[in-house]
Amino acid sequence: MSEKMNEIRQAFSEKLRNALNAQALEEIRIEYLGKKGAVTGLMKTMKDLSNEEKKSFGQQVNVLKNEITEAIAKKVEQIKQKELEIEINSMPEFDVSAPPVLERGSYHPITLVQRECERIFSSMGFNIEDYSEIVTDYECFEAVNIPKHHPARDMQDTYYLTNGQLLKSHTSAAQNAIYRKYRKALVEEGKPIKAIFPGRCFRNEATDACHENTFFQMEGVMVDRNISISNLIFFMKTMLSEVFQKDIKVRLRPGFFPFVEPGFELDISCLICGGEGCPSCKQSGWLELCPCGMIHPEVLRAGGIDPEEYTGFAFGLGMTRLAMMKYGIKDIRDLNSGNLKSLSQFTAE
Ligand code: DAH
Repeated sequence: MSEKMNEIRQAFSEKLRNALNAQALEEIRIEYLGKKGAVTGLMKTMKDLSNEEKKSFGQQVNVLKNEITEAIAKKVEQIKQKELEIEINSMPEFDVSAPPVLERGSYHPITLVQRECERIFSSMGFNIEDYSEIVTDYECFEAVNIPKHHPARDMQDTYYLTNGQLLKSHTSAAQNAIYRKYRKALVEEGKPIKAIFPGRCFRNEATDACHENTFFQMEGVMVDRNISISNLIFFMKTMLSEVFQKDIKVRLRPGFFPFVEPGFELDISCLICGGEGCPSCKQSGWLELCPCGMIHPEVLRAGGIDPEEYTGFAFGLGMTRLAMMKYGIKDIRDLNSGNLKSLSQFTAE
């Protein structure tokens, strides 16, 4: 009997040595330990033995069975290890200690223009205010003298929330809150209200190269005793000359906006031809840039300020337009596109 066992042992070792993969090992396992396997077959011969023999034979078969089980398990591990090594060696070389190759980020052109304007206006004593993008109908329209059913609402269709609030269609929506915030200092301490409030605005518009449903404006207001149109012209001219880094001529044309009286369109001398006339300015020498005006008495009153005592000017600078002019961007849609190739070419000066 022990001879038979040795035979099995030797044949098994031979086969195990030659097995190269997991499948071959599984076949060997079945051949020796399976239901009809060699070791199982040995067990079955036990019934012909005496009790005495049975005991020692059974022990020997068990030893053999354990040997085979362990040898297979060890070989499985070895093969797995080998396969892993092959996989690792076939990977492209990767140097974990190499310095990372990072693309440098850049500011968005609107951010650049916004920061520039903020720097200039704060150097002239203006506070910079932030305001939410979701506002009430009152803030966006009623408080700036655009009552319900006023035709001016047609040009400012926007996106409405189910609770009646809306995405602000212009930064003028923050005017009321600004007046309320600073009126005490104005009335009690005689401090003029000087604030700018840049912000993202929304309109329900079909988009094309010149129109977007999302764009940026920067509103500015100044309220004090005896504020006049000359103050408005001075501040706008100073600011724009700084932004464009050259002396800018400005002119005012009448324009209608319900929240200013009188209201104007402020034009600047053409940046390309300097006022001579060229295709960019349609030969007129002027570019339309910034609507503005003297704050309407009703708007001051809604903000808790007595229009008999105080006057002020307001302007709504189209920051998206300004960025396009400053950087020569032809299609407004590029600005919201996330196309880094077109957005990352502008740098702060
Ligand atoms: N809110 C106006 C718009 O988006 C722009 C505007 C015009 C703002 C005149 C002003 C202003 O402050 O005085 O169409």
